[in-house]
Amino acid sequence: MHNMQINNTDLTWWKQGPIYQIYPRSFLDTNGDGVGDLEGIIQKLDYLKDLGIRGIWLSPIYPSPLFDFGYDISNYHDIDPVFGSLATFKRLVTEADRRGIGIIMDMVLNHTSHLHPWFIESRSSRDNPKRDWYIWHDGKAGLFGRGYPNNWMAAFGGHAWKWDPETGQYYLHLFTEEQPDLNWRNPQVQEAMLAEMRFWLDLGVKGFRLDVINYLIKDTLFRSNPYRFRLTYPRRHDLQHHQYDRNQSETYEIIRRIRSLMDSYAGTSEATMLVGEVYPDEGVHAPDLAATYIGSGQDLLHLAFDFSTIYIQLTAADLYSVLKTWYSVLSPGAWPCHVLSNHDQSRSASRLCAGPDQEAQKRLLAALLLTQRGTPFLYYGEEIGMEDGRIGRKDLQDPLGKKYYPFHPGRDRSRTPMQWDNGSAAGFTSGKPWLPVNPDYKERNVASQERDGTSLLAWYRDLIRLRDKEPALREGAIEFVESGLAENVLAYRRETAIRRETAIRRTAAIGRGEAADEVLVVLNVSGQTRPNPFRRGGTVLLSTHRKPDSPIEYDTRLAPWECTVYR
Ligand code: GLC
Ligand code: CA
Repeated sequence: MHNMQINNTDLTWWKQGPIYQIYPRSFLDTNGDGVGDLEGIIQKLDYLKDLGIRGIWLSPIYPSPLFDFGYDISNYHDIDPVFGSLATFKRLVTEADRRGIGIIMDMVLNHTSHLHPWFIESRSSRDNPKRDWYIWHDGKAGLFGRGYPNNWMAAFGGHAWKWDPETGQYYLHLFTEEQPDLNWRNPQVQEAMLAEMRFWLDLGVKGFRLDVINYLIKDTLFRSNPYRFRLTYPRRHDLQHHQYDRNQSETYEIIRRIRSLMDSYAGTSEATMLVGEVYPDEGVHAPDLAATYIGSGQDLLHLAFDFSTIYIQLTAADLYSVLKTWYSVLSPGAWPCHVLSNHDQSRSASRLCAGPDQEAQKRLLAALLLTQRGTPFLYYGEEIGMEDGRIGRKDLQDPLGKKYYPFHPGRDRSRTPMQWDNGSAAGFTSGKPWLPVNPDYKERNVASQERDGTSLLAWYRDLIRLRDKEPALREGAIEFVESGLAENVLAYRRETAIRRETAIRRTAAIGRGEAADEVLVVLNVSGQTRPNPFRRGGTVLLSTHRKPDSPIEYDTRLAPWECTVYR
């Protein structure tokens, strides 16, 4: 019955279409306090539905003292009042559900806020029952008295150990010192966190994005990390291999527990979704590592991010090698996903696109992302080509940016307010936005692109609609054609299994109503005219340069930055 797949319209929701990441502080503010809120998201659900997305991943909206803008959580089962209330949240879930959109919460399991009641208890005395919920360690005796327990460095600066004079021990924090790491080797911690996840599942949440999931478990002996030489990174954190503070084998056991919780809730193994942030060493491609967290796709994560695309170059050869590698390291049962931008990185529109062809390059990235095999992740504003903001020192909010100014740009640049229209503050707020709006909002905004059938927004919509319509694009296999790479043309076939068979069997299969299918994608990753590596004619489905349904000749030349999907 493998061919039934072809007309399968009931792929589970998170496999069907794009997941859209919202950074809630920056999406839409409805009460004028300058910070986006849940009500704002509810108001834009129709916009998102129209775009064609199937899920919304919300960056954290729990109560937080904001030392890491929500990634430091002080209560895992409530909504921070700045965003609304549990009642507003329930309305969001219901309204999203009515539009076929699943809500995905960001779950920060590795650490809590230092103001979480668990940590307040834990640090109160050495014999407090919650002492062992966090990672406490004596100082190491050395030449100059007691020093740090080992050489681990925090991602956000300085040592990962903070001395606590009250109880005379260090606690571990792999991020800011206001984000103490939980001790996941303690079964009570596991139970408590699973209960927090159950709370959201009971409210109808359909999935979780698991923050730095590969950091959960640390080496039992707390050995020092080996040194790693690098020229390009200012942080000492990046000058070591994270051999002992990440990716310990017991992490997979914990993920298995989380997966069975999800499966027990959903009834079926794919009704809910876990997507993991698997962070490699800085600047390193590690798709094989991300793949280990998905495994067969049946008992670990459903999806994991491969951050190779964050370090990609905009050349056909590089796109090809990164994507091809990603597909090849995944096991046959695993489902891929793809991401070009998020709240931690420079936006792809700025990172990968530049110069006079910038807008054409953005279209190419959209076509690339939305015609791959697997679930595409979009970051709010990507669909209108939002670029990084330039944030002056006085406006910096991100602790990373403040700490390393001016050597590290920080992460505020990709978190600027969504650009809805050309009114004041881009229609994001009637007050003063928490981060400055990118001044290009006068030209680049949703309202103007909605009026323009040739806008980038229209291109995203068309691509998503095409993906919805064409099973080969949605779930077909992918096969790259290497002959165009030397000329900077990336070409691939998306096809259903039956097409790989002989022409006669294919015709017979089509005769039986088993609609085998094949769709061709050509992306000219250059500003020059290029030949079409497929050397095949056909009919255009969607193109930056050609009308739908128009014929395409076998020897056609591709225009600069042309993206064409045809069969
Ligand atoms: C993840 C988040 C990032 C956060 C960090 C600590 O990398 O994406 O924003 O600062 O974890 O929770
Ligand atoms: Ca608000």
